Amino acid sequence: MVSKEDLLLLKQQKNALVLAHYYTLPEVQEVADFVGDSLGLSQKAAQTDADIILFAGVHFMAETAKILNPGKKVLVPDMDAGCSLADGCAAEDLKEFMRDYPGYKVLAYINCSAEVKTMADIIVTSGNALHIVNALPKDEKIVFVPDRNLGDYINRQTGRQMVLWHGDCCVHARWNAAMVRRLKEAHPQAAVVAHPECRREVLELADFVGSTAAMLNHVQSSEKNEFVVITENGILHEMRKRNPGKTFYSADDEKACICRSMKKNNLENMYRVLADERPELLLDEETIAKARLPIQRMLSMSQSLRRG
Ligand code: 13P
Ligand code: SF4
Repeated sequence: MVSKEDLLLLKQQKNALVLAHYYTLPEVQEVADFVGDSLGLSQKAAQTDADIILFAGVHFMAETAKILNPGKKVLVPDMDAGCSLADGCAAEDLKEFMRDYPGYKVLAYINCSAEVKTMADIIVTSGNALHIVNALPKDEKIVFVPDRNLGDYINRQTGRQMVLWHGDCCVHARWNAAMVRRLKEAHPQAAVVAHPECRREVLELADFVGSTAAMLNHVQSSEKNEFVVITENGILHEMRKRNPGKTFYSADDEKACICRSMKKNNLENMYRVLADERPELLLDEETIAKARLPIQRMLSMSQSLRRG
Protein backbone atom coordinates (compact mmCIF):
# COMPACT_ATOMS: atom_id res chain seq x y z
CA MET A 1 0.00 0.00 0.00
CA VAL A 2 1.37 3.38 -1.02
CA SER A 3 0.93 6.03 1.68
CA LYS A 4 0.50 9.76 1.32
CA GLU A 5 4.00 10.19 2.82
CA ASP A 6 5.55 7.83 0.21
CA LEU A 7 4.11 9.87 -2.60
CA LEU A 8 5.03 13.23 -1.08
CA LEU A 9 8.65 12.09 -0.65
CA LEU A 10 8.90 10.79 -4.22
CA LYS A 11 7.32 13.97 -5.53
CA GLN A 12 10.00 16.00 -3.78
CA GLN A 13 12.82 13.77 -5.06
CA LYS A 14 11.57 14.06 -8.64
CA ASN A 15 10.80 17.79 -8.48
CA ALA A 16 7.30 16.99 -9.68
CA LEU A 17 4.13 19.10 -9.57
CA VAL A 18 1.03 17.05 -8.79
CA LEU A 19 -2.17 18.46 -10.25
CA ALA A 20 -5.57 16.98 -9.36
CA HIS A 21 -9.10 17.78 -10.47
CA TYR A 22 -11.80 18.26 -7.80
CA TYR A 23 -13.47 15.06 -9.04
CA THR A 24 -10.59 12.77 -8.04
CA LEU A 25 -10.62 10.62 -4.89
CA PRO A 26 -10.06 12.46 -1.56
CA GLU A 27 -6.66 10.78 -0.99
CA VAL A 28 -5.54 11.96 -4.44
CA GLN A 29 -6.62 15.53 -3.72
CA GLU A 30 -4.73 15.38 -0.42
CA VAL A 31 -1.34 14.69 -2.09
CA ALA A 32 -1.76 17.27 -4.84
CA ASP A 33 0.14 20.55 -4.95
CA PHE A 34 -2.90 22.09 -6.52
CA VAL A 35 -6.51 20.93 -6.79
CA GLY A 36 -8.70 22.83 -9.19
CA ASP A 37 -11.21 23.02 -12.00
CA SER A 38 -10.17 22.83 -15.65
CA LEU A 39 -9.35 26.53 -15.82
CA GLY A 40 -7.27 26.61 -12.65
CA LEU A 41 -5.42 23.43 -13.61
CA SER A 42 -4.47 24.73 -17.04
CA GLN A 43 -3.29 28.03 -15.52
CA LYS A 44 -1.07 26.10 -13.08
CA ALA A 45 0.28 23.76 -15.77
CA ALA A 46 1.26 26.75 -17.90
CA GLN A 47 3.25 28.37 -15.10
CA THR A 48 5.15 25.61 -13.35
CA ASP A 49 8.93 25.28 -13.36
CA ALA A 50 8.86 21.72 -11.95
CA ASP A 51 10.55 19.03 -14.10
CA ILE A 52 7.54 16.74 -14.14
CA ILE A 53 3.78 17.29 -14.12
CA LEU A 54 1.88 14.33 -12.68
CA PHE A 55 -1.71 14.88 -13.78
CA ALA A 56 -4.50 13.23 -11.81
CA GLY A 57 -7.47 13.98 -14.02
CA VAL A 58 -8.49 12.72 -17.43
CA HIS A 59 -6.58 12.39 -20.69
CA PHE A 60 -7.56 15.69 -22.33
CA MET A 61 -6.41 17.59 -19.22
CA ALA A 62 -2.94 16.03 -19.37
CA GLU A 63 -2.80 16.86 -23.08
CA THR A 64 -3.62 20.47 -22.24
CA ALA A 65 -0.79 20.55 -19.71
CA LYS A 66 1.64 19.19 -22.33
CA ILE A 67 0.48 21.71 -24.94
CA LEU A 68 0.97 24.59 -22.52
CA ASN A 69 4.29 23.44 -21.14
CA PRO A 70 5.84 21.12 -23.76
CA GLY A 71 9.29 21.12 -22.14
CA LYS A 72 7.91 19.24 -19.12
CA LYS A 73 7.48 15.53 -18.75
CA VAL A 74 3.72 14.98 -18.30
CA LEU A 75 2.81 11.71 -16.59
CA VAL A 76 -0.64 10.15 -16.53
CA PRO A 77 -1.63 7.58 -13.87
CA ASP A 78 -4.03 5.80 -16.25
CA MET A 79 -3.96 6.44 -19.99
CA ASP A 80 -7.49 5.00 -20.27
CA ALA A 81 -9.01 7.81 -18.21
CA GLY A 82 -11.08 9.32 -21.00
CA CYS A 83 -14.04 11.69 -21.17
CA SER A 84 -17.34 11.12 -22.99
CA LEU A 85 -17.23 14.67 -24.34
CA ALA A 86 -13.74 14.39 -25.81
CA ASP A 87 -14.37 10.84 -27.05
CA GLY A 88 -17.63 11.85 -28.74
CA CYS A 89 -16.03 14.47 -30.97
CA ALA A 90 -13.49 13.00 -33.38
CA ALA A 91 -11.48 15.53 -35.37
CA GLU A 92 -12.46 13.82 -38.66
CA ASP A 93 -16.16 14.12 -37.81
CA LEU A 94 -15.76 17.76 -36.84
CA LYS A 95 -14.03 18.47 -40.17
CA GLU A 96 -17.02 16.95 -41.95
CA PHE A 97 -19.48 18.90 -39.75
CA MET A 98 -17.72 22.22 -40.44
CA ARG A 99 -18.25 21.83 -44.20
CA ASP A 100 -21.85 22.98 -43.53
CA TYR A 101 -20.66 26.07 -41.66
CA PRO A 102 -18.21 28.07 -43.77
CA GLY A 103 -17.15 31.33 -42.11
CA TYR A 104 -18.01 30.08 -38.62
CA LYS A 105 -15.53 30.26 -35.74
CA VAL A 106 -14.99 27.09 -33.72
CA LEU A 107 -15.37 27.64 -30.00
CA ALA A 108 -14.27 24.48 -28.21
CA TYR A 109 -14.89 23.48 -24.62
CA ILE A 110 -11.55 22.39 -23.12
CA ASN A 111 -13.02 18.87 -22.78
CA CYS A 112 -11.87 17.85 -26.26
CA SER A 113 -8.85 16.13 -27.80
CA ALA A 114 -5.62 17.92 -28.75
CA GLU A 115 -6.49 17.28 -32.40
CA VAL A 116 -9.84 19.03 -32.04
CA LYS A 117 -8.07 21.90 -30.25
CA THR A 118 -5.92 22.39 -33.36
CA MET A 119 -9.16 23.16 -35.24
CA ALA A 120 -10.49 25.61 -32.66
CA ASP A 121 -10.28 29.40 -32.78
CA ILE A 122 -10.64 29.67 -29.04
CA ILE A 123 -10.99 27.31 -26.10
CA VAL A 124 -13.25 27.88 -23.12
CA THR A 125 -13.82 26.16 -19.78
CA SER A 126 -17.01 26.19 -17.77
CA GLY A 127 -15.25 28.75 -15.54
CA ASN A 128 -14.77 31.35 -18.28
CA ALA A 129 -17.18 30.46 -21.13
CA LEU A 130 -19.68 33.26 -20.47
CA HIS A 131 -16.93 35.83 -19.96
CA ILE A 132 -15.25 34.86 -23.25
CA VAL A 133 -18.40 34.58 -25.36
CA ASN A 134 -19.59 37.96 -24.11
CA ALA A 135 -16.26 39.45 -25.22
CA LEU A 136 -16.70 38.22 -28.83
CA PRO A 137 -18.39 40.43 -31.46
CA LYS A 138 -22.18 40.12 -31.25
CA ASP A 139 -22.51 39.07 -34.90
CA GLU A 140 -19.76 36.40 -34.77
CA LYS A 141 -20.98 33.11 -36.26
CA ILE A 142 -19.95 30.32 -33.91
CA VAL A 143 -19.98 26.53 -33.82
CA PHE A 144 -19.63 25.32 -30.21
CA VAL A 145 -18.18 21.86 -29.55
CA PRO A 146 -18.54 19.29 -28.03
CA ASP A 147 -21.03 19.86 -25.14
CA ARG A 148 -24.58 20.64 -26.28
CA ASN A 149 -25.74 21.29 -22.70
CA LEU A 150 -23.03 23.79 -21.87
CA GLY A 151 -23.54 25.32 -25.33
CA ASP A 152 -27.29 25.63 -24.74
CA TYR A 153 -26.61 27.26 -21.36
CA ILE A 154 -24.18 29.76 -22.93
CA ASN A 155 -26.70 30.57 -25.68
CA ARG A 156 -29.41 31.29 -23.12
CA GLN A 157 -27.15 33.38 -20.89
CA THR A 158 -25.59 35.44 -23.67
CA GLY A 159 -28.44 35.62 -26.19
CA ARG A 160 -26.24 34.01 -28.85
CA GLN A 161 -27.30 31.38 -31.33
CA MET A 162 -24.20 29.23 -31.50
CA VAL A 163 -24.56 26.05 -33.53
CA LEU A 164 -24.08 23.13 -31.12
CA TRP A 165 -22.24 19.86 -31.56
CA HIS A 166 -24.29 16.96 -30.17
CA GLY A 167 -22.04 15.65 -27.33
CA ASP A 168 -22.66 15.42 -23.63
CA CYS A 169 -21.01 14.43 -20.34
CA CYS A 170 -22.19 10.93 -19.42
CA VAL A 171 -22.23 11.95 -15.72
CA HIS A 172 -23.91 15.38 -15.72
CA ALA A 173 -26.34 14.55 -18.55
CA ARG A 174 -27.70 11.69 -16.48
CA TRP A 175 -29.40 14.10 -14.08
CA ASN A 176 -33.04 14.94 -14.83
CA ALA A 177 -35.69 17.25 -13.41
CA ALA A 178 -37.44 14.48 -11.43
CA MET A 179 -34.20 13.67 -9.58
CA VAL A 180 -33.72 17.31 -8.64
CA ARG A 181 -37.35 17.71 -7.56
CA ARG A 182 -37.08 14.66 -5.31
CA LEU A 183 -33.98 16.11 -3.64
CA LYS A 184 -35.64 19.50 -3.23
CA GLU A 185 -38.68 17.88 -1.59
CA ALA A 186 -36.48 15.85 0.74
CA HIS A 187 -34.39 18.92 1.68
CA PRO A 188 -36.64 21.98 1.35
CA GLN A 189 -34.14 24.26 3.14
CA ALA A 190 -31.34 23.44 0.73
CA ALA A 191 -30.13 25.62 -2.14
CA VAL A 192 -29.46 23.79 -5.42
CA VAL A 193 -26.07 24.28 -7.11
CA ALA A 194 -25.42 22.70 -10.52
CA HIS A 195 -22.71 22.37 -13.16
CA PRO A 196 -23.57 23.78 -16.61
CA GLU A 197 -22.85 20.40 -18.24
CA CYS A 198 -26.31 19.40 -16.92
CA ARG A 199 -29.38 19.51 -19.12
CA ARG A 200 -31.62 22.58 -19.36
CA GLU A 201 -34.45 21.00 -17.32
CA VAL A 202 -31.97 20.51 -14.46
CA LEU A 203 -30.35 23.94 -14.67
CA GLU A 204 -33.77 25.59 -14.62
CA LEU A 205 -34.32 24.14 -11.14
CA ALA A 206 -30.95 25.32 -9.81
CA ASP A 207 -30.37 28.35 -7.61
CA PHE A 208 -26.78 28.66 -8.81
CA VAL A 209 -25.01 27.38 -11.94
CA GLY A 210 -21.23 27.37 -12.26
CA SER A 211 -17.98 25.49 -12.75
CA THR A 212 -16.64 23.35 -9.92
CA ALA A 213 -14.53 26.23 -8.59
CA ALA A 214 -17.45 28.66 -8.92
CA MET A 215 -19.73 26.27 -7.00
CA LEU A 216 -17.15 25.98 -4.24
CA ASN A 217 -16.87 29.73 -3.93
CA HIS A 218 -20.63 30.17 -4.00
CA VAL A 219 -21.29 27.59 -1.28
CA GLN A 220 -18.62 29.17 0.93
CA SER A 221 -19.96 32.69 0.64
CA SER A 222 -23.66 31.72 0.81
CA GLU A 223 -25.66 32.27 3.99
CA LYS A 224 -27.41 28.94 3.39
CA ASN A 225 -26.38 25.90 5.42
CA GLU A 226 -27.68 23.09 3.20
CA PHE A 227 -27.02 22.40 -0.46
CA VAL A 228 -28.12 19.92 -3.09
CA VAL A 229 -25.00 19.48 -5.21
CA ILE A 230 -25.58 18.52 -8.84
CA THR A 231 -22.22 17.46 -10.16
CA GLU A 232 -19.57 14.80 -9.64
CA ASN A 233 -19.26 13.73 -6.00
CA GLY A 234 -15.51 14.29 -5.75
CA ILE A 235 -16.22 17.97 -5.16
CA LEU A 236 -17.86 17.13 -1.82
CA HIS A 237 -14.43 16.50 -0.29
CA GLU A 238 -13.35 20.11 -0.78
CA MET A 239 -16.83 21.47 0.00
CA ARG A 240 -16.89 19.70 3.36
CA LYS A 241 -13.32 20.73 4.14
CA ARG A 242 -14.05 24.38 3.51
CA ASN A 243 -17.49 24.34 5.16
CA PRO A 244 -17.47 22.03 8.19
CA GLY A 245 -20.77 23.44 9.49
CA LYS A 246 -22.71 22.98 6.24
CA THR A 247 -24.53 19.93 4.87
CA PHE A 248 -24.44 18.65 1.30
CA TYR A 249 -26.79 16.26 -0.48
CA SER A 250 -26.36 14.32 -3.70
CA ALA A 251 -28.35 11.73 -5.67
CA ASP A 252 -28.42 7.96 -5.05
CA ASP A 253 -27.73 7.29 -8.71
CA GLU A 254 -23.99 6.51 -8.90
CA LYS A 255 -23.86 7.09 -12.63
CA ALA A 256 -25.00 10.69 -12.09
CA CYS A 257 -22.40 11.36 -9.42
CA ILE A 258 -19.29 9.38 -10.25
CA CYS A 259 -16.97 9.96 -13.21
CA ARG A 260 -15.30 6.58 -13.49
CA SER A 261 -12.35 8.04 -15.39
CA MET A 262 -11.57 10.54 -12.63
CA LYS A 263 -11.71 7.71 -10.10
CA LYS A 264 -9.06 5.73 -12.00
CA ASN A 265 -6.41 7.92 -10.36
CA ASN A 266 -5.16 6.46 -7.07
CA LEU A 267 -2.05 6.59 -4.90
CA GLU A 268 -0.76 3.28 -6.31
CA ASN A 269 -0.79 4.23 -9.99
CA MET A 270 0.38 7.76 -9.22
CA TYR A 271 3.38 6.41 -7.31
CA ARG A 272 4.19 3.83 -9.98
CA VAL A 273 4.16 6.26 -12.94
CA LEU A 274 6.18 8.81 -11.01
CA ALA A 275 8.77 6.21 -9.97
CA ASP A 276 9.02 4.81 -13.55
CA GLU A 277 8.56 8.22 -15.19
CA ARG A 278 6.21 6.57 -17.65
CA PRO A 279 3.82 6.34 -19.35
CA GLU A 280 4.60 9.82 -20.55
CA LEU A 281 2.02 11.82 -22.46
CA LEU A 282 3.51 12.71 -25.83
CA LEU A 283 2.20 14.91 -28.64
CA ASP A 284 3.87 15.85 -31.92
CA GLU A 285 5.27 19.35 -32.27
CA GLU A 286 2.81 20.46 -34.92
CA THR A 287 -0.19 19.48 -32.82
CA ILE A 288 1.29 21.28 -29.81
CA ALA A 289 1.97 24.46 -31.76
CA LYS A 290 -1.49 24.55 -33.37
CA ALA A 291 -3.44 23.57 -30.26
CA ARG A 292 -1.60 26.08 -28.09
CA LEU A 293 -2.93 29.16 -29.92
CA PRO A 294 -6.63 28.82 -28.96
CA ILE A 295 -5.72 27.85 -25.39
CA GLN A 296 -3.45 30.86 -25.03
CA ARG A 297 -6.21 33.09 -26.34
CA MET A 298 -8.43 31.69 -23.61
CA LEU A 299 -5.80 32.18 -20.90
CA SER A 300 -5.09 35.75 -21.85
CA MET A 301 -8.82 36.55 -21.99
CA SER A 302 -9.39 35.01 -18.55
CA GLN A 303 -6.38 36.44 -16.73
CA SER A 304 -8.59 38.52 -14.51
CA LEU A 305 -10.76 35.56 -13.50
CA ARG A 306 -10.20 33.80 -10.21
CA ARG A 307 -8.12 30.63 -10.19
CA GLY A 308 -9.55 27.58 -8.51
P1 13P B 1 -14.75 22.15 -14.68
O1 13P B 1 -13.55 21.57 -14.09
O2 13P B 1 -14.39 23.20 -15.68
O3 13P B 1 -15.78 22.62 -13.74
O4 13P B 1 -15.44 21.00 -15.56
C1 13P B 1 -15.98 19.89 -15.00
C2 13P B 1 -15.65 18.64 -15.71
O5 13P B 1 -16.48 17.85 -15.99
C3 13P B 1 -14.28 18.40 -15.98
O6 13P B 1 -14.18 17.48 -16.93
FE1 SF4 C 1 -15.71 14.15 -18.93
FE2 SF4 C 1 -17.98 14.25 -17.58
FE3 SF4 C 1 -15.92 12.93 -16.53
FE4 SF4 C 1 -15.88 15.62 -16.70
S1 SF4 C 1 -17.26 14.37 -15.47
S2 SF4 C 1 -14.22 14.21 -17.24
S3 SF4 C 1 -16.98 15.94 -18.61
S4 SF4 C 1 -17.01 12.40 -18.42
